[in-house]
Amino acid sequence: MTNPSDHVLIFDTTLRDGEQSPGATMTHDEKLEIAEMLDEMGVDIIEAGFPIASEGDFAAVSEISENSKNSVICGLSRANFKDIDRCAEAVRKAAKPRIHTFIGTSPLHRAIPNLTQDEMADLIHETVSHARNLVDDVQWSPMDATRTEHDYLCRVIEIAIKAGATTINIPDTVGYTAPRESADLIRMLLERVPGADEIVFATHCHNDLGMATANALAAVEAGARQIECTINGLGERAGNTALEEVVMALKVRNDIMPFQTQIDTTKIMNISRRVAQVSGFAVQYNKAIVGKNAFAHESGIHQDGMLKNPENFEIMRPEDIGLAGTSLPLGKHSGRAALKAKLNDLGFEVGDNQLKDVFVRFKDLADTKKEVFDDDLVALMTDGTDDA
Ligand code: KIV
Ligand code: ZN
Repeated sequence: MTNPSDHVLIFDTTLRDGEQSPGATMTHDEKLEIAEMLDEMGVDIIEAGFPIASEGDFAAVSEISENSKNSVICGLSRANFKDIDRCAEAVRKAAKPRIHTFIGTSPLHRAIPNLTQDEMADLIHETVSHARNLVDDVQWSPMDATRTEHDYLCRVIEIAIKAGATTINIPDTVGYTAPRESADLIRMLLERVPGADEIVFATHCHNDLGMATANALAAVEAGARQIECTINGLGERAGNTALEEVVMALKVRNDIMPFQTQIDTTKIMNISRRVAQVSGFAVQYNKAIVGKNAFAHESGIHQDGMLKNPENFEIMRPEDIGLAGTSLPLGKHSGRAALKAKLNDLGFEVGDNQLKDVFVRFKDLADTKKEVFDDDLVALMTDGTDDA
């Protein structure tokens, strides 16, 4: 059985799993600002924090709940009544509150609280039922699902659904799965778990092997309809699935992945920059979608191709993610076409002979530095004219 709906919910956990990256702590006001931006860009569910973790987290989740406009506001809680009650209290003022409760179900994780399979199954029933008595929207996660025995995973998911969970999240907690396995797992759950067609399956991937985006998309193709992700892929260790990557992949390759999100992609760049600032985690230059070089072309062949038709070397328009345009930085790999175009932009009309001469001097200069800036070109063009 596959999920017939083509709408994929975007669940952003920048403020919870993202903030769990060592050193990424954000202030209260920064969290409110990011939550507002997420709400405005069309994120369906915002995981705003882990209310029991600290007074600060509780206060942030409470105020984000109070301010929320469109998004569901979710708080995280472990599998105990105290956590769940605190979480319910924090999301109480949200127009659309959700409690997300979890427990590690793999053999390794079951050993942490030292519970037998039966004891854990009972605990899942009690805690999910308790959460469901407090709110109508309950998400349950078997942490380390991708390393949990299939029979046990099916058993506990069935229990969680019967206890009232409305979303079942399948975390690849340690970034261990691969795309085919990620898809097979969702397919297997949809086929085997009674009641699976009445809930939403979510995919929550970590990037330890660099496969978080591929794994999340594979899960969607198999029937998951909620992707858990963070801005810039911020998150524990190598991070989580990056929101901008899955959303743009679904937009650009809608021909082969015919699923829709409600994200306003033109807001991606702004929120990416803001999350980088407030978390202190700079975005790597070659990061997909939001890296400084994602829409920059330096080599002569690429620049010439871009000037003739941007589709030669770009599969999406920079404007689609909120960038003003492509950049063609000049460096030692650049060619005459880009130099001429840049000189024209700067107001210099150059004939073929002059271009030949300037190009030689430009290449000499480019060999000495990483990038040739506008000021360098102006200096090249006006060199000696002061004395004339
Ligand atoms: O990675 C994980 O397993 C989590 C859970 C709390 C959902 O973040
Ligand atoms: Zn996680």
